[in-house]
Amino acid sequence: MISQERPTLIARSLAEVTAPAVVVGVGAGPDGPLLLTDALPDEAAVALESSLELLGVKGRPDEVHRLPGLSGSRWPLLVLVGLGDLDQDGGADDEALRQASGAAVRSLAGTQSVALALPADTPSRLAAVAEGAALGAYAFTAFTSAGDTPGRAPVSTVELVTPLPASASEPVLRRAAVIGDAVCAVRDLVNTPPSHLYPASFADAVVADLEGTDVDVRVWDETQLAAEGFGGILGIGQGSSRPPRLVRVEHAPAGARAHVALVGKGITFDTGGISLKPPASMMTMKSDMAGAATVFAVVRAAAALEIPVRVTGWLAMAENMPSDTALRPSDVLTMHGGKTVEVMNTDAEGRVVMADALVAATDERPDAVLDVATLTGAQLVALGVRHTGVMGDEALRDEVVAAAGAAGELAWPMPIPEQLRPSLDSRVADISNMGERFGGMMTAAAFLREFVDAGRPVAERTESPTPWAHLDIAGPSFNESAAYGYTPRDATGTMVRTLVGLIAGRAG
Ligand code: BES
Ligand code: MN
Ligand code: ZN
Repeated sequence: MISQERPTLIARSLAEVTAPAVVVGVGAGPDGPLLLTDALPDEAAVALESSLELLGVKGRPDEVHRLPGLSGSRWPLLVLVGLGDLDQDGGADDEALRQASGAAVRSLAGTQSVALALPADTPSRLAAVAEGAALGAYAFTAFTSAGDTPGRAPVSTVELVTPLPASASEPVLRRAAVIGDAVCAVRDLVNTPPSHLYPASFADAVVADLEGTDVDVRVWDETQLAAEGFGGILGIGQGSSRPPRLVRVEHAPAGARAHVALVGKGITFDTGGISLKPPASMMTMKSDMAGAATVFAVVRAAAALEIPVRVTGWLAMAENMPSDTALRPSDVLTMHGGKTVEVMNTDAEGRVVMADALVAATDERPDAVLDVATLTGAQLVALGVRHTGVMGDEALRDEVVAAAGAAGELAWPMPIPEQLRPSLDSRVADISNMGERFGGMMTAAAFLREFVDAGRPVAERTESPTPWAHLDIAGPSFNESAAYGYTPRDATGTMVRTLVGLIAGRAG
């Protein structure tokens, strides 16, 4: 389910490059396209630059042109990639480099090895180019018969042209490879069809993948979930012949400086249950476990990078199916920690499984808890398909948004308006899983908030509440449009980089 094949990233001086294809950047300058490279002989560069406009090269983002080798140049294939508008000093920012590198490597699928001669003269620029390459070299081929997709295999070797010494470039490339592998592992899991990925097989894949690493894993099966009162996960999973699971993964380095808990929604398929979705809305619902996949990948990356922060990840897995054993709208469930939930709409299942896991996660008193979930269609209405909605305690919410900015991911802070809370009142249980429809992303957040620290004694949790943030990735986790930059179609792996960056920031 998780591919072991990822591209090899190698730092090179220009003279050491062996790849037959070289990628150079073109910026959109105020007076037309500008070639941004010293990889070509001066004469060839001058000749090429004067032809750019006639070739239709604008230097815009996602523009990739393939040209034959130029005279005096060592490469039979020259690839121009757009960097977009240049800044005042004629340079491209890190995110522009990351996207351009990704777009180039992605469009070069079918070419075995390529050299990137993009601006990579500082560790942060090299990191951006390397990350873009690692993210752009992706294809999901696990379910096509061998040889079915000739010419489309992702680039397998990327030579990064940089003047930096190995002592500077090696840690940068190592980190980029770990990050790329983490994002692509999420893509693999999310793209895996629900015929093959269901709670037990998802849990097994996590266990198998972490074997031999220092990450500790515990899996609760349906019997253990019942014994420990995880009524939310069990309730949502009860309509499926494939029973639910809760998985806890932990990176606990000696001398950890902080403890961050992560909680992920792991609905391996969301039919809506008895509150059945219409067919068109179900087409992407294999992606409803993207939050859990993200949590797994972030914990694995934190361990691989030896970040000195303890990270506990909670993956709440269930398949939401309609059947004679499924939940009925108006059934009441008792969550871990004792709170009761009246399930008025079985399609609002994510918040119910997340509730159980949030209680368990905060029972351990982490310094912060963050949850990641494909929680609401309202997220797409509010913020569109590319921005993650971030809610929760203001300081942590803003820390997430800042970490996203630093990582080059799109996230936007949203409030949890107080007036939404009463819309979740139930006449028979502590709370209902359905509330105000308008601003539904924020209503869902108001529901989740009730379960943060819900298992702790009241006096203790008012004294030291656990800071909490909620990331709704319903839209950005799955790209239904054309690929762009380093983002493929289908599963994207969004928020892995943001969360790894946030955790690294907690190391001080
Ligand atoms: N998994 C969906 C949310 C979703 C929708 C994710 C579209 C990705 C794309 C979630 O379980 C759901 O069905 N939410 C309902 C909640 C409603 C019944 C309160 C929704 O958004 O319609
Ligand atoms: Mn649903
Ligand atoms: Zn769902």
